[in-house]
Amino acid sequence: MANKLHAAITGVHGWVPEDRLTNFDLEKMVDTNDEWITSRTGIRERRILKTPGWATSDMCAEAVKGLLEKTNTKPGEIDMLIVGTITGDMVFPDTANTVCDKIGAKNAFGYDINAACSGFLYALATGTQFIQSETYSKVVVVGADMMSSIIDYTDRNTCVIFGDGAAAVLLEARKDGTGIQDFVLRGDGSGREFLHMKAGGSLRPASAETVANREHYAWQDGKRVFVQAVKGMTGTVEEVMRRNKMTIEDVNWIVPHQANMRIITSVAEHLQFPLDRVTVNIHKYGNTTSGTLPLCMWEYEDQFKKGDNIILTAFGGGFTWGALFLKWAY
Ligand code: UT7
Repeated sequence: MANKLHAAITGVHGWVPEDRLTNFDLEKMVDTNDEWITSRTGIRERRILKTPGWATSDMCAEAVKGLLEKTNTKPGEIDMLIVGTITGDMVFPDTANTVCDKIGAKNAFGYDINAACSGFLYALATGTQFIQSETYSKVVVVGADMMSSIIDYTDRNTCVIFGDGAAAVLLEARKDGTGIQDFVLRGDGSGREFLHMKAGGSLRPASAETVANREHYAWQDGKRVFVQAVKGMTGTVEEVMRRNKMTIEDVNWIVPHQANMRIITSVAEHLQFPLDRVTVNIHKYGNTTSGTLPLCMWEYEDQFKKGDNIILTAFGGGFTWGALFLKWAY
């Protein structure tokens, strides 16, 4: 609706490490093979952060620096910075504050949102509120994870899927009808049983025993997560479409979380949505958790047109999931 103020994405930029971990590299590390990984997940390689002393905040800082340059924004103009991540540099303080320091955003405050693979979606919905309420003018939302820091490279159920990466968007007000229109966010804490890190939190603080038991890594019941991911993403996309009286033809793009190509295909099939309007970069980066949605938008930025109806959808540990509908602003 024109004249109504919406929070709009006015720029997107990503950053991924240079080092690649290919399926062939993984063949030498665990009992797996390129054929299995490609056919079961669609992933061919992932990026791994190896720069000494670098962590999630450094990937965020690189993505945000590129974003600011691209959008002609000075660090001091940022009011707020939110990071969706489950692999913050430290348990505390939060990574958003570290990122503000590293990029010189002296007037900003921020915090992290821990919603696993839905982290960016939750963070984007949160940032939207601060723009729509006219509390702030420029909010940066980052999705970033250094999954290699919590992956057990002896566990073939998880190590073939995940990778590292970060991407950021700038949110500003628009009154031309573009921007974030609606979202549906969901959560079900009983799902924690199927996707989690067993130790390192207050439930099981780090000890010699938790390290010996390899409990400081991401663990999942892949099949269970797979089924719920298809159900959750399909359901919330349908709900957002229904609420906004949209048909498949009205939607230009679906930007889904990149966890497994078979999940993406299955969601598209359930929705009867053509795959050529679904963003896919899983073959290059694997599952970067909070990074997947903004990395996809960065990758497809040149193909998006002003006014395009785009639905973002994600599912992750928690369980957390949802869908967000926006009209591309540039
Ligand atoms: O972003 C949210 C986080 N996670 C997800 O969304 C993940 C969702 N789940 C998945 O993507 C899939 O469940 C996986 C990729 C993790 C596993 O694929 P799957 O098709 O569900 O395989 P499976 O667990 O049913 O295993 C089938 C077979 C098993 O062998 P047997 O018991 O049939 O002999 C596994 O041991 O494949 C075996 N297997 C592997 N073989 C080669 C499991 N992982 C591998 C592997 N390489 N990496």
